Amino acid sequence: MSQSNKESRYLIVQTPSKEEHKLTVHDGDVAILAKDLAQVRLKGLTKDGKEVEKQVTSFDPGFMNTACCESTITYIDGDKGILRYRGYPIEQLAERSNFLEVAYLLIYGELPTATQLNTWKERIMSHTYIHVTLMDYMKSFRYDAHPMSMFIATMAAMSTEYPESNPTLTRRDLFEFDYRARNQQIFRILGKAPTIAACAYRHRIGRPYNYPTESFRGYSYTENFLYMLDRLSESEYRPSPAIAKALDVLFIVHADHELNCSTAAMRHLTSTRVDPYTAVAGAAGALYGPLHGGASEAVVRMLEEIGSVDKIDEFLEGVKSKTRRLMGFGHRIYKNYDPRAKILKEYAEKVFAEVGRDPLVDIAVELERRAIQDDYFVSRKLYPNVDFYSGIIYRACGFPLDMYPLLFALPRIAGWLAHWYESLREEKSAAKASIPGATHVMRARQICIGDIEKVFPTEEESISKQSITMDALKTYHSNLSKRRRAPHKDIA
Ligand code: ACO
Repeated sequence: MSQSNKESRYLIVQTPSKEEHKLTVHDGDVAILAKDLAQVRLKGLTKDGKEVEKQVTSFDPGFMNTACCESTITYIDGDKGILRYRGYPIEQLAERSNFLEVAYLLIYGELPTATQLNTWKERIMSHTYIHVTLMDYMKSFRYDAHPMSMFIATMAAMSTEYPESNPTLTRRDLFEFDYRARNQQIFRILGKAPTIAACAYRHRIGRPYNYPTESFRGYSYTENFLYMLDRLSESEYRPSPAIAKALDVLFIVHADHELNCSTAAMRHLTSTRVDPYTAVAGAAGALYGPLHGGASEAVVRMLEEIGSVDKIDEFLEGVKSKTRRLMGFGHRIYKNYDPRAKILKEYAEKVFAEVGRDPLVDIAVELERRAIQDDYFVSRKLYPNVDFYSGIIYRACGFPLDMYPLLFALPRIAGWLAHWYESLREEKSAAKASIPGATHVMRARQICIGDIEKVFPTEEESISKQSITMDALKTYHSNLSKRRRAPHKDIA
């Protein structure tokens, strides 16, 4: 861990028996190594009341105050509302960069030169085709399959296409010492992810899948994605540049957000050295949850339910009495305005200029105006987060609600891959290898509060009655099933 001060600082821990332990305090986030805590031993009780000496363990079920890696990718200051990728403010990147350039920055750590950017784009865009077996696989999903589930399953299935890129089938350290092997997977995943997402969308709306545009050199990443979503029979379909630009900005602001749940999942999976397709599928699985990638959808449902500006006060009263929650407000890290929400609020207007103003935005703007003046929200430091305006933009652009998590996942893949790349490179670095656990498989500890030891009952011994029930929700039987299972009785 980084130690910039010449003189080490310590946290002194004193046990009840007056024994003192010096735990080294590392700079940066002023962290102590959880492993150092293990040197402190205290008396604890087993469940059956026996006194034993145990090493002290940090207990942090929701990762409320636990760092699990060192990273140079993203910097967030939640109190000040600051987000920077590799040091560059998100506002400047949204205004002056584009998604592929930002993806390069996140993964490799520097902005590309013009030549590097061209090569990077060429490499990714020439990997946009997916194998026909993957398309056939996608076609086998139900007509109403959720696009995110299709995406997760197909991304995992991609690992079957490239057995030579699977450390389980080749060598454990396949990606750690060969940057070319890492690059190959990055090009493939960034290239093919929008194609898979577009197929999932087309499946969802009952239209044939599109192949990527042949003239990819003239299309940006988001233009090609929109092309695959929207091309009908036109031979030269070109999406609106303004919408492609707005989607590009949405992609930039969603590209990384340090150790959020899905990125932590990506690092967790990567620590086992599983192939990156399975790891990205796992991270996307974490993002799919309503507490993570589902908030923008919840915001739109909430605004639809409020329905008009004159219902806002009544709604806010419900929030303050805790019967409702103001979706798109509040954040675990930001205790100030989420800088991404500011950018998207501005872009919402630009999108409306192209596709027409969505009436929900007037409710959103007024809701925000009243909330940020209200003591309930001010005292709790609750401000709009990225999801407050992203959902309105998606809606104005005509995306169905179930595409929202996928529109979040696509750009976040850049962040997941940046963490994949960084965590594998750690293996090579002597400095990183000196941090206990940095190159190990991630394996959390638990506090066992169950029975420590029991003897399996003999046949004669009866098992005591417990409250466990096997009841489950009743399966819904359609009339079709009822007809099929109708009893075999003669007609009276
Ligand atoms: N509406 C109303 N009250 C809220 C809200 C909200 N959106 N968010 C927090 N609060 C209140 C809590 O009730 C609590 O009040 P109390 O002190 O009276 O009990 C206080 O603010 C602190 O809230 P916590 O739940 O402790 O904050 P936490 O950091 O755990 O939660 C979270 C953060 C989950 C994002 C929360 O603010 C929330 O549920 N927001 C709405 C959902 C949402 O927008 N999620 C998207 C997050 S961004 C992303 O994932 C990309």
